[in-house]
Amino acid sequence: MVVLGGDKVAKNIKLSASILNVKQMELHSRIAELKEVIDYIHIDVMDGIFVPNKTPGIDMFKNAKRFETKQLDVHLMVDEPERELSNYDGADIITFHIETVLDSKTMMINMKKFEEISSEIRRLGAKVGVAIKPNTTESLLRNVFRKVDLILVMTVEPGYGGQKLIPKTLAKVENIKKAGFNGIIEVDGGITEETAPDAITAGATMLVAGTGLFDAEFPLEAGKAMKNNK
Ligand code: DX5
Ligand code: ZN
Repeated sequence: MVVLGGDKVAKNIKLSASILNVKQMELHSRIAELKEVIDYIHIDVMDGIFVPNKTPGIDMFKNAKRFETKQLDVHLMVDEPERELSNYDGADIITFHIETVLDSKTMMINMKKFEEISSEIRRLGAKVGVAIKPNTTESLLRNVFRKVDLILVMTVEPGYGGQKLIPKTLAKVENIKKAGFNGIIEVDGGITEETAPDAITAGATMLVAGTGLFDAEFPLEAGKAMKNNK
């Protein structure tokens, strides 16, 4: 942490650009335009079951891996993450949803399944991320704080880009931080220049932005503003 002129504290906030709504053919130019502000490329993988929408995750990943130098942040919104992991060899972060490893009777984490998925992610050389939907309680994650590198708090219902951030989700970010999690806290959905400061104040250290970045009037400036807020 660096202290700037007294009260302004610069945190090392990372920005992950969600390419969900970027045309594959324009990917390279859109990333190039933002290269100084982007830390990761966020790839949303949707199976049409866990979320109503479907994306060609593997193609998006392959395309980004071949042509881009940024680290790849893979967000699996799929019902059976264990079946998809090997497609994302070379990712820096692979995040799966906690809702996909809950025991249907107890609604507690099925630790065997959790461990299997996380060890496969580590075997692929990636950081382990776990995501929670807006209506899933963050207290569920207490048992896995030490087993993951990153917690992704969904700040909208997963499935689509361009939605508005749900304010109550930021309380979850705060609770996760207060409960002692000291890994990366990533927020995803509705992050813009306007909402980023609140997310950072709550404790987010990594921001995912799609619409707020690529559809901004001045994307590079928007990205910088998101990261530089206190
Ligand atoms: C939503 C995805 C997000 C989405 C973010 O299910 O996980 O990554 O693309 O898009 P914006 O920033 O437009 O809300
Ligand atoms: Zn995402």
